[in-house]
Amino acid sequence: MSAISRRDLLCSGLALSASSLLARSAWGRTASLLAGYPEAASAEALAAVAPRDQLLFDFGWKFQFGHGSDPARDLGFGYGQGDFAKTGEFDFAKAKFDYSKWRTVNLPHDWAVELPFVRDEALNSHGFKPLGRRYPETSVGWYRREFDVPAGDLGRRISVEFDGAFRDVLVWVNGCFIGRNDNGYAPFRFDLTDFLAYGSKNYIVARVDASFGDGWFYEGAGIYRHVWLTKTDSIHLGKWDSMVRSTVNGNSATLSLATVVQNQGKQAENAKVSWKILDVSGSTVATAEAAPQSIEVDGCATLTATATLANPALWSVDMPNLYSAIVTLESDGKARDAERVGFGVRTVLFDAEKGLFLNGKSVKIQGTCNHQDHAGVGAAVPDRLQWFRLGVLKEMGGNAVRTSHNMPTPEWVEGCDRMGLMMMCETRQMSSSPEGMAQLEAMVKRYRNSPSIILWSIGNEEGQMQDQMAEQGAKVGATMVRRVHELDPTRVVSAAVNGDNKQGVSDSFDIIGFNYHLERPDEYRKLHPTRPIYGSETSSAISTRGDYATSPLRNTVNAYDSVVPWGETAEDWWKFYGTRDWAAGGFAWTGFDYRGEPTPYGWPSINSQFGIVDMCGFPKDTFYYYKAWWGREPSLHLFPHWNFEGREGGIIPVWVYSNLEEVELFANGKSQGRQKVPHLGHVEWKVKYEPGVIEARGYKAGKVALTEKRETTGPAVSIRLSADRTEISADGEDLAILKVEVLDKEGRPVPTADNLIGFKISGDGALLGVGNGNPNCQESDKDPKRSLFNGLAQVILQSTKSPGEIHIEAAKEGWDGPELTPAKLIIKTKAVEPRSSVG
Ligand code: GAL
Repeated sequence: MSAISRRDLLCSGLALSASSLLARSAWGRTASLLAGYPEAASAEALAAVAPRDQLLFDFGWKFQFGHGSDPARDLGFGYGQGDFAKTGEFDFAKAKFDYSKWRTVNLPHDWAVELPFVRDEALNSHGFKPLGRRYPETSVGWYRREFDVPAGDLGRRISVEFDGAFRDVLVWVNGCFIGRNDNGYAPFRFDLTDFLAYGSKNYIVARVDASFGDGWFYEGAGIYRHVWLTKTDSIHLGKWDSMVRSTVNGNSATLSLATVVQNQGKQAENAKVSWKILDVSGSTVATAEAAPQSIEVDGCATLTATATLANPALWSVDMPNLYSAIVTLESDGKARDAERVGFGVRTVLFDAEKGLFLNGKSVKIQGTCNHQDHAGVGAAVPDRLQWFRLGVLKEMGGNAVRTSHNMPTPEWVEGCDRMGLMMMCETRQMSSSPEGMAQLEAMVKRYRNSPSIILWSIGNEEGQMQDQMAEQGAKVGATMVRRVHELDPTRVVSAAVNGDNKQGVSDSFDIIGFNYHLERPDEYRKLHPTRPIYGSETSSAISTRGDYATSPLRNTVNAYDSVVPWGETAEDWWKFYGTRDWAAGGFAWTGFDYRGEPTPYGWPSINSQFGIVDMCGFPKDTFYYYKAWWGREPSLHLFPHWNFEGREGGIIPVWVYSNLEEVELFANGKSQGRQKVPHLGHVEWKVKYEPGVIEARGYKAGKVALTEKRETTGPAVSIRLSADRTEISADGEDLAILKVEVLDKEGRPVPTADNLIGFKISGDGALLGVGNGNPNCQESDKDPKRSLFNGLAQVILQSTKSPGEIHIEAAKEGWDGPELTPAKLIIKTKAVEPRSSVG
């Protein structure tokens, strides 16, 4: 029997749709970039052979807080110090345990985002959420789930697989302690085969302790990534052992194929492995077979083969062509296991003289660094939202992301593969300790088939390893780099270094990354002309979306490309890395605002202002700087808005970001002058404010190519709701991402509005979260209401598994403010085959 999870199949087919959609995408239509991930054409091929189940284990968990220091409030765990004395005696993971008062949650789940904000300076970096040893009542969470294992599963290998959880996790099944995890980002799995009751109910419990953090940014708390229950034959393919490596030779590519077969059965087996390579349309374009091998009981063997692809469709940022390899294991004349490996064919070269080449073509890394949280959901970011976020970055002209400072989710990597974004994939701990190496190995093994990844990073700004402990750093770095090369000889290894890169951990890098300090790369290059260089972290420009005055009283930063003392403006860093032939480009800090590190202000700010877009993904003005100079289409963006009541007669700076040749500005019909747009720069005017309209006209070859206006609006009279998609899948996971605005009587959005809006949601969906991008807003992320911030708020709705409609009504909330005509929106949820999941 086989239940093929959609997750296994997601990749095939995307390349075609993504590339055709790219051409017509624009901000506000990001959804179209993400729409229609087609079901994999490889489904049938895999379904025909795969005696494997990969079941999503996300739905219907029970949750309750434990306690970090009082066992009486922690299910009695640790009360008498004898808990681990005997196997099988943990009653909370047995049938009789009463958990009727626990609440139901679906994964991914982040309980930190549900907590109130607490003014405590020590919590500043993590966004003022009460986590840590001083907050024992909110730092430990228990998850419990009952599940059936059919009698027919006897003899199979069954594992529970966590894509990641925050942070220290203990897992029990049926009263038996199974294992632990001690980091917030690497996946972990446990083989449950011996502990399960076949043909009966089983009980799994996880105690998740978020008292310790891994970073200096918001990290969430709980099982914030997917969980899977995987069932295979006793002879099966090894976890993340299947590899496809391609070498391009002229018009063809040689594929080196390898996998590991493990025999956990009761007799030796003669294993045969074959590969079927499918292109994006599902056609078989190559096949290969490994020489059969006999595998002893409890033994394993590596099987390899090669195949040739004629005229391969190369993976690139413009055409992210993907292939699938269906790896099938046969023994005893039967298919015993199979999996799909998504891969792409491309060449990557970092050249010390000429920068980066993708498929032989010069390309600059137009990248952003990003943490992994979003408004309304914290770190528990559903797949669709991850793709939405990538769509925003791609829309800006970004062609790369850095997963600062940790191993990303599989969905983030898959999104990059499918949308055509290159990736610098970074591990959390720079250490050659067993824990550090385990994290590193999991990352490289998990993602080494992904064409988006162009370089591995072994860490970020590790002062001790770079400088103070340079001698040890050199050894730690060498051990880590060596191991990455063993696991993946096809990619280069680096790290994000805030230092001179002249010693310590940097000795072992293949390419050299500089964080900030634009004075360093030129100097380094003089000494090391043969080492490729890129900007591993740059910029740290700051701004508050839609705000045009820097005010330490309001904790706002104006939108005119401001920067922290250690950073560089968007214009400065891109003029540096964008114009040096030898530089491979760089990664700006950051694409999205993120919780924690509330820079440049502290409380009541609860998130950073480094983002080029805010916490919701609403663009700040700098977004359009990048769009102009990273994008390929003509673009023109005029700011600020023109609602400056009370500042009549005062001077307002007016800027335009454009890649056109010249721009002329008009204020109430009067020309303010025509200016040449400097390469990689912007144009600006000082305009005396009078209500009315400003208009920018952009010229190319003497003709007006684009225009944009900002008009003084009247007061808000009505609400408008719009969604990225008005039809979503009824799979219990899909999302509609809504924009909330208020309009004046002429239907123009009011850019300064801060009305509090309430939401009523009914039908076949639920509210997942709300946000508004205000770094200083401490309203709940989960309540069905939100104030607008500079004219915008976001509502995230999630489908259930019943097809139908989600109805949302938005109306003025509370007594203050003018009356507003409410808005209604219906999101259709269409019947789909949901991913196979644990019942
Ligand atoms: C860097 C660091 C980032 C972030 C940033 C803020 O030094 O690598 O994680 O803290 O500074 O500017």
